[in-house]
Amino acid sequence: MTWTHTFDTSPDAELKGILSKDFHWGYATAAAQVEGAWNVDGKGPSIWDKLCHTPGKVKDGSTNEDATRAYDLYKEDVALMKSYGVTAYRFSLAWSRIVPLGGAEDPINEQGIDYYNRLIDELLAANITPFVTLFHWDTPQTLEDRYGGMLNQERYTPDFLRYARICFERFGDRVKHWITYNEPGVYTLAGYAGGMHAPGRSSYRDRNEEGDSSTEPFIVAHTELVSHARAVKIYREEFKPTQKGVIGITLHGNNSEPWDVNDPLDVEAAERARQFEIAWFADPIYGSGEYPACMRAQLGDRLPHFTPEQKDLVQGSSDFYGMNTYTTFFVKHRDEEPDVNDHKGNIEKCDANSEGKSRGPESDTYWLRTAPEGFGKLLRWVWDRYHVPIYMTENGTTAKGELAPTPDVLDDTFRVEFFNGYLRELATAVRDGVDIRSYFGWTFTDNWEWAAGYTDRFGVTFVDFESVEKTRYPKRSAYFLKDYFRHLIQEK
Ligand code: BGC
Repeated sequence: MTWTHTFDTSPDAELKGILSKDFHWGYATAAAQVEGAWNVDGKGPSIWDKLCHTPGKVKDGSTNEDATRAYDLYKEDVALMKSYGVTAYRFSLAWSRIVPLGGAEDPINEQGIDYYNRLIDELLAANITPFVTLFHWDTPQTLEDRYGGMLNQERYTPDFLRYARICFERFGDRVKHWITYNEPGVYTLAGYAGGMHAPGRSSYRDRNEEGDSSTEPFIVAHTELVSHARAVKIYREEFKPTQKGVIGITLHGNNSEPWDVNDPLDVEAAERARQFEIAWFADPIYGSGEYPACMRAQLGDRLPHFTPEQKDLVQGSSDFYGMNTYTTFFVKHRDEEPDVNDHKGNIEKCDANSEGKSRGPESDTYWLRTAPEGFGKLLRWVWDRYHVPIYMTENGTTAKGELAPTPDVLDDTFRVEFFNGYLRELATAVRDGVDIRSYFGWTFTDNWEWAAGYTDRFGVTFVDFESVEKTRYPKRSAYFLKDYFRHLIQEK
């Protein structure tokens, strides 16, 4: 089904043409969530391949062996994206497809390189700008087995840098927008604090055999920051002068609002929550060059220290602020001492505030509610604190009841309203002077949502996972975004 309906953008007439002609928009994906072909053409295993083949780790017992088969169907996907009117596509490279064993001395897999070359060429032929993420959570399993992956900064870093260098060398003639890490914080917290994501480590022995939630997340985060900065240094010194691209990092972060606006302790708690979640990574890169003082106060020496050399490297190591954000929480302070495994700033997250106001309508994902106003506030918080151009690299929602591609499901008003609200906020922030240069919806097609398996559908395209062809069905939201961006972006 294709939608012929043109959306009524008249309520937003004053925002017409507010985004500049070179604003990039499109969809974002991640290799492990869409590619499939998990062990073909020489690809090595990643930590997610291992996790999803371990019984009990994924909600619906599924694996990502096939995912949406984007590896096979990339041509059709690019054509579909083109029909959606996008100008850019953000995707990630699977490290273990390019270097199957992952290490600095390990062989390169030319078949993996070929695949990404074909994808990049197909995009460029369709006039779609590639935004490439080097790492979206899929560490090669061999590196985990050899030395514990990112827990071992000294051994991990040269392996990551060699992989990054291969990517700049082989793809940098055509790729001009690089992202080193996707959401280092979620990788760290879900993989080493909660232990639900790969590599599945935490202090909770009913869940994970190994790990220490009170220390490992902070060690891994430090490895990510330092190795990110070293990769950027390589790009800037050896590749940027000829390739002329930009490079940065993408951070996660939801908006936090005080549960009781009249309680100074809640106001402080909301700010502390933002700092634990966002400034943890953003202050060292875009701000003071150190971890936030409130984190140091609570965590002491469990939070690593930057050496003077590391501080120098990390500060200023991103040409832009890559921003992934989805929702808002109300935040209440806690009177008790923080738990040793706490990584949120000793706060409680609530769905409603002290006056009973809900944080927004429920999606099909427990943590995600539609909260456009909070998005507008967070954009300004990031801009006021760091003052670097923002690339919105992910934003989107699931919707309840998307079980089959029926006309009702494909007419996804809930998602249309989500995007409409958030984009209106984005456009208004731009009008108010916030420098925002891209927007990537999450996501292009329904995909394999990590430990939630195939149960959470974030796509503007419905995928029939039961069918061998993984048949794609456009949802109405895809056409809404097309119309709405046509309205917001200046005509050429
Ligand atoms: C991640 C995606 C994920 C999405 C929805 C982001 O945190 O980068 O990989 O699918 O959120 O949960």
